Amino acid sequence: MEKKNIQIDYNDIVIHVDNVSKSFGDLHVLRDVDLKLYNEENLVVLGRSGTGKSVLIKLISGLLRPDKGNVNVLGEVVNELDERDLRALRQRIGFSFQNSALYDSMTVRENLEFPLVRNKRNLTRAEINKEVEEVLEGVGLSQAINQMPSELSGGQRKRIGIARTLILRPDIMLYDEPTAGLDPITCLDINTLINEVQERYKTSSIIITHDLACAKMVGDRMVMLLDGKFERQGTFEEIFDTDDERVRPFYDYNFIV
Ligand SMILES: Nc1ncnc2c1ncn2[C@@H]1O[C@H](COP(=O)(O)OP(=O)(O)O)[C@@H](O)[C@H]1O
Ligand SMILES: [Mg+2]
Repeated sequence: MEKKNIQIDYNDIVIHVDNVSKSFGDLHVLRDVDLKLYNEENLVVLGRSGTGKSVLIKLISGLLRPDKGNVNVLGEVVNELDERDLRALRQRIGFSFQNSALYDSMTVRENLEFPLVRNKRNLTRAEINKEVEEVLEGVGLSQAINQMPSELSGGQRKRIGIARTLILRPDIMLYDEPTAGLDPITCLDINTLINEVQERYKTSSIIITHDLACAKMVGDRMVMLLDGKFERQGTFEEIFDTDDERVRPFYDYNFIV
């Protein structure tokens, strides 16, 4: 496996979840959490189902507001923005969700044109074609341009989904369980793509996953959400160098030892 060669500037903060709490009634999902994402970094967020990983992404994208604390994204305080400014900020964020489906009745080309036409109305036909071709090449699927989603494999559809996000040149990518439900070979393929996106598009990314092979391969740094806190932070080795019985089963399940 190729080692990444990314230099991260730890003064260049892209996202700062600053002392944030979020509850739903009596359910305290996040408790005074502090999390930073640095420029061009791939940060992996680990945690069991229902621990609040998707809630974290919704706070970052302004779909939820914190009960306490601030969410700073690209120099803006997300929880203080009005709808119009939120929309503008979201344009700079790419989302790859668990079930971000393609439009089945549209070709790959049409699926990719859709966000461009909707968000950048002043592009010419030639410019649109160029953007579509470039991003398809970026995800290694130039040959699929005229195919229908139903003719593609699960992994290829996932790639096109990521391409559809990249076509707007986001500064930040948020991947919510990008390899969920994929076979191991396809997982490897998507993990490779996540690293290629980091390198090629200079994105800063948060990758939410349960998949430790994914975490190890894409993460420059990781955090683990435990009981509403990011108690463990660091490299893969640092996170799992513990006897904490909330952490060990994660490792043991992924790498039966
Ligand atoms: N809008 C909401 N209203 C009430 N409860 C919610 C809402 N969103 C999430 N939750 C609860 O918060 C907890 C964390 O959810 P989530 O972030 O989706 O977990 P995961 O770590 O699996 O992504 C869950 O118990 C979920 O039921
Ligand atoms: Mg989730």
